Amino acid sequence: MQISSDSRTLYERIGGEAPLRRLVQSFYRHMDELRETQTIRWMHADNLQSAENKLFMFLSGWMGGPSLYIEQFGHPRLRMRHMPFSIGESERDQWMLCMKHALDDVIEDQNLRDELYASLYGVADFMRNQPE
Ligand code: HEM
Repeated sequence: MQISSDSRTLYERIGGEAPLRRLVQSFYRHMDELRETQTIRWMHADNLQSAENKLFMFLSGWMGGPSLYIEQFGHPRLRMRHMPFSIGESERDQWMLCMKHALDDVIEDQNLRDELYASLYGVADFMRNQPE
């Protein structure tokens, strides 16, 4: 295993605001278009703009950049906010499939892609509120 010696934040390594915006745009475009992810697509509003903006704001702070989500909405309490939706392994995997495609689209550095995938998998798994 290679231990990263890069002391920059994930936000800096991804290239800041513009690439992060492209990442979340690509993420929701895939959610909209992939046949396999329609279960989670239907949990969302018809218009994905608000979800896209909130994910962008959340990830900005989560990656060590500006804490945009907290400034506007307070503590994310993400797990609690996802309780209205039934999230099991299949929904987690659908979310991660969209993220895998988005990371492949936007991030050239494979180490960074792998690191982000692994960390986000942990968050997505934590969001599960169904046994399977
Ligand atoms: C594991 C599968 C997941 C599913 C099925 C899911 C689904 C959803 C849905 C349906 C919404 C409401 C969107 C709307 O208002 O139309 C939402 C909101 C949100 N999700 Fe997820 N989500 C998942 C994982 C994640 C993960 C891993 C993150 C962060 C890395 C995340 C971050 C957010 C944020 C920031 C919001 C906005 C919360 C708010 O209302 O302020 N979600 N999610």
